Formats: sequence, structure tokens, C-alpha cells
Amino acid sequence: MIRLCAIDDLSEDEVHRVELDGGHGIAVYLLDGEVFATDDLCTHGEASLAEGEIEDGKIVCPFHLGSFDIKTGAACAAPCSIALKTYAVEIIDGAVHIAP
Ligand code: FES
Repeated sequence: MIRLCAIDDLSEDEVHRVELDGGHGIAVYLLDGEVFATDDLCTHGEASLAEGEIEDGKIVCPFHLGSFDIKTGAACAAPCSIALKTYAVEIIDGAVHIAP
């Protein structure tokens, strides 16, 4: 498993960006007490979703205001049409992990 961050690093309404070895960015969210992880890079352009806003369970891209469902990665608003990759999260000893 890959450790992303401590649960305590997360807060509701904020996206926590973690950079993996090789520079791949993961966005980690705390939503109604549950942790979710998606790719940080928007599927529409070169935007970091960690710079976006969380609204109603969706992450709104800071560039063109497209959005994705944080739980499923589904594209919810144009111009986004390609789903965002999501990661199954496991909490181990108070830290957020994803499968390699
Ligand atoms: Fe994200 Fe365009 S780069 S909506």
C-alpha cells in the first residue's frame, strides 16, 4: 500500500494534494467523515483539482469550472466529459493509503 497522508492532514471543504514518486498528483478529500482519493489532474486540461472548490460532493475545476463527483469520479459539468480516476482508500493506523 502507498501511504498518502495522515487522516489529521485532511479537513472537510479542502482538497489535500499528495505527490507520488514520479510526480503523479493525488487529490485526497474528507467528505462527510469519509476519505476519498482521485487523480489531481483534471481530465480536461492541465489544472490541479486541489486548487478547486468542493461543492455538494463535487470538485469544481479552477480552470473552466467543470466538475467531477468526488466519490465516483464521474464528470458532472462541461467542459469535463472524461471521468476522473478514483482510488480505493484504506485507513491504516490513522493514515490514508491506496493500492500501488
Ligand atoms: Fe479542468 Fe478545463 S482544465 S475544466
